[in-house]
Amino acid sequence: MEDRRRVCWVITGAGHFLRETAGFLTGAKNISGDLYYTRAGREVAAMYRVTERIGESGFKIFYEDDFSSRGAIYFSGGRYRALVIAPATANTIAKCALGIADSLSSNFFAQAGKSSVPIFVLPTDAEREISSVTPSGVRIEVIPRRIDLARIEELRSFSGVTVLRSPEEFYKI
Ligand SMILES: Cc1cc2nc3c(=O)[nH]c(=O)nc-3n(C[C@H](O)[C@H](O)[C@H](O)COP(=O)(O)O)c2cc1C
Repeated sequence: MEDRRRVCWVITGAGHFLRETAGFLTGAKNISGDLYYTRAGREVAAMYRVTERIGESGFKIFYEDDFSSRGAIYFSGGRYRALVIAPATANTIAKCALGIADSLSSNFFAQAGKSSVPIFVLPTDAEREISSVTPSGVRIEVIPRRIDLARIEELRSFSGVTVLRSPEEFYKI
């Protein structure tokens, strides 16, 4: 039987992979659910001018506006069939890997894990060198630190967590 439960999608404050994520969300007709922006996610999405596009995705939109991440209670209630954090900042990845739960993305990650809800994460800082684009369209090279790469490796060993390598992998999940 088809699983009609909702997907919970979190957009963190990352510019890298953001336009690709927006493109996927607006084109994906077979998934629906709740989409949350972290505080930084909301700001960065506005800078990259993708907020309106993401608003047309069919997802119900929410913003991080509290300290306890009250939306996290829905994971134990069976509301969601999956959590997707994409794109995921190095900040969010580090917190998730360390078991910190003091922000929307890290709380959702923790609660989804404790409720055995499958988690998919698309980290931005996953290669030794990244070519990205600023909000004004300037191409920049970013060299993730060893600590950023190490935290991603740690997440790969978490049960129930799938670390994606690129936005193309959205279509597989
Ligand atoms: C324009 C812009 C683009 C950014 N892109 C990235 C990014 O691609 N990856 C990253 O790890 N951080 C990026 N940041 C930094 C994060 O927004 C910052 O670390 C923030 O505190 C993350 O919070 P969050 O993980 O709760 O969303 C960017 C910041 C700005 C202003």
